[in-house]
Amino acid sequence: MKRAKLDMLFSLNQWRSIQILMFIGFVYILLVGFEVPFLLKNGFSSDSLQGFSSSGNRFLNSKPFVLDSEEYLDEKEAPIRPLDVPYQSRTERRIEEFSKSPLSRLNFSAGIMNLSPENSISKSAKEALQLGIMLWQELEVIGKNSSGSGISDINNKNDSKNEECPHSLSTPGDLFPKNGTVMVLPCGLTLGSHITVVGRPRVAHPETDTKISLLKEGQYDMVSQFMMELQGLKIVDGEDPPRILHLNPRLKGDWSGKPVIEQNTCYRMQWGTAQRCEGWKSWADEETVDDLVKCEKWIRDNVNDSKESNSKWWLNRLIGQTKKVEVDWPFPFVEDKLFVLTLSAGLEGFHLSVDGRHITSFPYRTGFALEDATGLSLTGDIDVHYVFAASLPTSNLNFASQKHLDISDKWKAPPILDGPVELFVGILSAGNHFAERMAARKSWMQHRLIKSSKAVARFFVALHKRKEVNVELKKEAEFFGDMVIVPYLDNYDLVVLKTVAICEYAIRTASAKYIMKGDDDTFVRVDAVIKNAKEVSENRSLYIGNINYYHKPLRSGKWAVTYKEWPEEVYPPYANGPGYIISSDIANFILSDFEKHRLRLFKMEDVSMGMWVEKFNSSREVEYKHSLKFCQFGCIEDYYTAHYQSPKQMICMWNKLQQHGKPLCCNTR
Ligand SMILES: *[C@@H]1O[C@H](CO)[C@@H](O)[C@H](O)[C@H]1NC(C)=O
Ligand SMILES: *[C@@H]1O[C@H](CO)[C@@H](O)[C@H](O)[C@H]1NC(C)=O
Ligand SMILES: *[C@@H]1O[C@H](CO)[C@@H](O)[C@H](O)[C@H]1NC(C)=O
Ligand SMILES: *[C@@H]1O[C@H](CO)[C@@H](O)[C@H](O)[C@H]1NC(C)=O
Ligand SMILES: *[C@@H]1O[C@H](CO)[C@@H](O)[C@H](O)[C@H]1NC(C)=O
Ligand SMILES: *[C@@H]1O[C@H](CO)[C@@H](O)[C@H](O)[C@H]1NC(C)=O
Ligand SMILES: *[C@@H]1O[C@H](CO)[C@@H](O)[C@H](O)[C@H]1NC(C)=O
Repeated sequence: MKRAKLDMLFSLNQWRSIQILMFIGFVYILLVGFEVPFLLKNGFSSDSLQGFSSSGNRFLNSKPFVLDSEEYLDEKEAPIRPLDVPYQSRTERRIEEFSKSPLSRLNFSAGIMNLSPENSISKSAKEALQLGIMLWQELEVIGKNSSGSGISDINNKNDSKNEECPHSLSTPGDLFPKNGTVMVLPCGLTLGSHITVVGRPRVAHPETDTKISLLKEGQYDMVSQFMMELQGLKIVDGEDPPRILHLNPRLKGDWSGKPVIEQNTCYRMQWGTAQRCEGWKSWADEETVDDLVKCEKWIRDNVNDSKESNSKWWLNRLIGQTKKVEVDWPFPFVEDKLFVLTLSAGLEGFHLSVDGRHITSFPYRTGFALEDATGLSLTGDIDVHYVFAASLPTSNLNFASQKHLDISDKWKAPPILDGPVELFVGILSAGNHFAERMAARKSWMQHRLIKSSKAVARFFVALHKRKEVNVELKKEAEFFGDMVIVPYLDNYDLVVLKTVAICEYAIRTASAKYIMKGDDDTFVRVDAVIKNAKEVSENRSLYIGNINYYHKPLRSGKWAVTYKEWPEEVYPPYANGPGYIISSDIANFILSDFEKHRLRLFKMEDVSMGMWVEKFNSSREVEYKHSLKFCQFGCIEDYYTAHYQSPKQMICMWNKLQQHGKPLCCNTR
């Protein structure tokens, strides 16, 4: 009887084991089917590619993006134009001039001639223009010497410019770069990289920064907190580097009165939504990261209890109680107590463990590749004893455009035809934003209205400090035919000159009816934008966008606007920069004022536009049209334009638009 029951139990167990085995097998097949290719694509492709492409044609072999999008394109079977044959069209004049040089034909020096010397633009512009002209001449010499087609040049490029990529780094605390500066991880991180910090949080001190400490006068909160950041040092110029991960343990002084760990990202100087771990374990149904919870539990109240509960746990174990006992650990950081923190890069996100225990996981966000994380900074109330970084990538395919550009005729811009161009979209882009441009080309720039030249889109790019970037840039411009190079050394204060160059090109080359300005992380619904503009009665001047009324300049802080730069107390009504539309008469007016040396220039291009339109409005009334669907922060459903979209999100949005015929957002990473 007993035996039989046991047997039955055994066979039951066996049956269960078989089920489990089958399940594991199934999961394995799934993994092999999906996960591993994913891993290959994302983790190792660059290395393996480098292996075999040194002999051959890297571009044609590599497919850096998820190209599934192609399958949904209307123009899937669009005939491919032979590479070297110049475009034949009725407007040979315009095309010829364009194909000769991607250089903007705006006379920049004319426009900045009469600026007052106090104007911050005046100083930087003259230098930047001089440098830019030199840089461009240098490029033309290189172009002539490297006889033959530029494309093959890119393909056979020698990779000897690889920087040193050490497998591991270690820095004693006293050598670790202090405040302000960062430790450089030359080639960024890769899947499986980990950084270990041995440090000691300082004892809480009265915090006098009123942004953190909010007590009455003379009274300050006691604060102890530190920040560990992974920054993208090589990604942008002229703005703060993006923070790919901002990790901020607050031992004391958080507004909740409890110790917390905040994690966040900052992309294009825009903070994301913080992930706060406050000592509660993440909900069971919440998204996990590589199967780890985002937040582990810790004892929220006092440290004394934990010792007790831990000893209770041990006691329970000794007595042999089998009841499952939850172990509660205290907050991992204690003032003046040494800790060993390890941050590792998983498949889906960063994992933080302290003293060997998992504490938090933070899913990767927008568009950053791990190799972009080239800077590590540790600031705040912390004494760093040692920093180790290991399992770092040993080859550097960084920056190189190769990885991002997909040299295929399919993505080339069609020629501008003689017929009317409804909409011209000028896209501001930075020299090294190869991936962003490629994503725009593969997504919304595939719209049938652009393919049929009813709408035209061009990137406006200034020259970069690094010659290699410029060489790539020129080749990119010549190949895709969708770039206009403004010949000055790129500088954050001079974006406004790109806006004028957009007006010039839209009027003189494209003869467009409406002119839109966007950024390279703006997703544009070309048809919706045109429809929106057409709703304004036929021959009225228009200014459409997400319009700000009565905004005041920021007068303090890093991005402050001085009274010299902007003497007035408020800005004119202006549409947010990532997506606005003007009618051609306004563009014409701007261009003509610029060339007559009387256009007032302000470093913020969107405010400048507001100012110009206001001036135009005083002689001919403009219809201002405000819509939140020109999103400034991210994306909302039914958008006209969406902003801060990573290359992956761009492709995703385009896919959704094609598949569902509806403007849907892609808020996943
Ligand atoms: C640009 O404008 C300046 C001042 O108006 C003029 O002297 C110069 O000749 C112009 N350059 C070109 C190429 O037109
Ligand atoms: C270009 O080629 C000429 C001769 O072929 C050479 O004298 C010159 O130094 C080269 N310039 C550069 C920048 O390589
Ligand atoms: C690349 O450059 C290195 C040194 O600069 C040289 O030894 C190597 O032969 C070059 N490879 C090719 C394919 O040109
Ligand atoms: C770091 O910043 C703190 C205040 O933020 C300052 O007191 C300290 O002197 C700075 N240390 C260095 C090395 O700059
Ligand atoms: C924790 O224990 C220390 C001494 O062991 C004591 O001074 C402190 O008041 C205790 N804290 C709490 C919240 O009980
Ligand atoms: C607008 O167009 C109408 C006819 O299309 C014309 O009569 C009128 O003069 C135009 N107004 C302006 C200001 O050009
Ligand atoms: C534009 O001009 C009209 C008429 O001159 C005026 O009523 C309106 O307030 C102006 N709009 C702006 C934004 O300046």
